[in-house]
Amino acid sequence: SKARIGVTGLAVMGRNLARNLARHGHPVAVHNRTAARTKALVEEFGDEGTFIPAETPEQFVASLERPRRLVIMVKAGAPTDAVIEEFAPLLEPGDMIVDGGNAHFADTRRREAALRERGLHFVGTGISGGEEGALHGPSIMPGGSAESYEALGPLLEDIAAKVDGTPCCVHVGPDGAGHFVKMVHNGIEYADMQLIAESYDLLRHAAGLSPAEIAEVFRTWNTGRLESYLIEITAEVLAHTDAATGRPFVDVVLDQAEQKGTGRWTVQTALDLGVPVSGIAEAVFARSVSGHAGLRRAARNLPGPKNDVRYLSGFADDVEQALYASKVVAYAQGFHQIQAGSEEYGWNIDLGQMATIWRGGCIIRARFLDRIRAAYEADPRTPTLLTDDHFAEAVGAAQDAWRRVVTTAAQLGIPAPGFSSALAYYDSLRAERLPAALTQGQRDFFGAHTYRRVDRDGSFHTLWGGDRSEVEA
Ligand code: 6PG
Repeated sequence: SKARIGVTGLAVMGRNLARNLARHGHPVAVHNRTAARTKALVEEFGDEGTFIPAETPEQFVASLERPRRLVIMVKAGAPTDAVIEEFAPLLEPGDMIVDGGNAHFADTRRREAALRERGLHFVGTGISGGEEGALHGPSIMPGGSAESYEALGPLLEDIAAKVDGTPCCVHVGPDGAGHFVKMVHNGIEYADMQLIAESYDLLRHAAGLSPAEIAEVFRTWNTGRLESYLIEITAEVLAHTDAATGRPFVDVVLDQAEQKGTGRWTVQTALDLGVPVSGIAEAVFARSVSGHAGLRRAARNLPGPKNDVRYLSGFADDVEQALYASKVVAYAQGFHQIQAGSEEYGWNIDLGQMATIWRGGCIIRARFLDRIRAAYEADPRTPTLLTDDHFAEAVGAAQDAWRRVVTTAAQLGIPAPGFSSALAYYDSLRAERLPAALTQGQRDFFGAHTYRRVDRDGSFHTLWGGDRSEVEA
């Protein structure tokens, strides 16, 4: 008998995805460039379900029922193209290639168009949740045609995480929509992680708490509105002691954050779309700053404020509120980007559904996402989550604490780019008038770039070098 689906590329993500499929009773064909990995998988986990090992691409393709569902789990970029080129010639019209890696959505759009020409479906699919998620239920964000989802969706929904019985998997939209949404998911992940890191830093250096004490603070937060996977694992990391030195683990790790690029892509794409995702951008830049060791060494002796570390009563609660409010901003910005991408590429993405499938399985899973789902249910066209009744009230109530935290950080010289940029975004949106009017005046002065007026339609220019009268442009 044939396999319902196949997975090629059996590094940890591919292997766990194949095991998840097999555990759900779906016979799965498995293939890897080096056959030893395929063999090891079947030897170690063969009793979990039906695996059909293949040594060659031809064997692999022949073992799949039609239409063939072929999942590739290889490195993004050139390796993905190489594997597609290896398998596509062996497939027949109606078959589908599913790319479950972290591909750039523009690559996915290109590949989808090229394979469509050849009668094949290409389904760029975001998969979040790391190794554990792949095995026990990830959040899955498939793009590609609606037709391909008919053949693929039920399988993916079967192996996805479930929240209240609802699978964390939905057809996001055509071509690159799934990978786009996964990219923004990762951008939000960066922002969330940065805000958590700033919270830790402030609790440590403004309030003088130890990593173990801060772990307790995070554990408490995790019982409230901030309940999330990232808060949960933060407590674990902070409570961990380095076996070799007996010091807090967080003190022996080199403080230079790395990245594989999805956060950077989110910001690059946002710039192209003209969407202000300042929180995500600050998170990417914060990693970048941390990695510039030479720059940091050179600047180490620059003067800072003279304040001492001191215990601030109620500070932990203030930080909780700042974290919550800044997190709402980061998500509002990320969802704005999805909305803009959806419009630009005609994807028709249902934002409430994205919040729904992120409630479980993925790295940013959080209680809070239920609120976002509800916000889009109440008003699918809401211009920003910040004006949703619930969030407007919650952030409004948090703002005093949020401002105190940003002030304290500035006074003590503790960098808090995430908190402060989120607050600046909030205040920018609130502002009755922005100094952008002055920017327009300057542009008109030096470059005759023209401006619009508040009281009349049209474009205008002031004759700055002449009698300063105004002309209609
Ligand atoms: C996920 C993660 C996953 C990966 C990140 C890490 O959703 O499961 O986002 O995709 O762990 O890409 O990203 P960086 O290495 O860039 O931090």
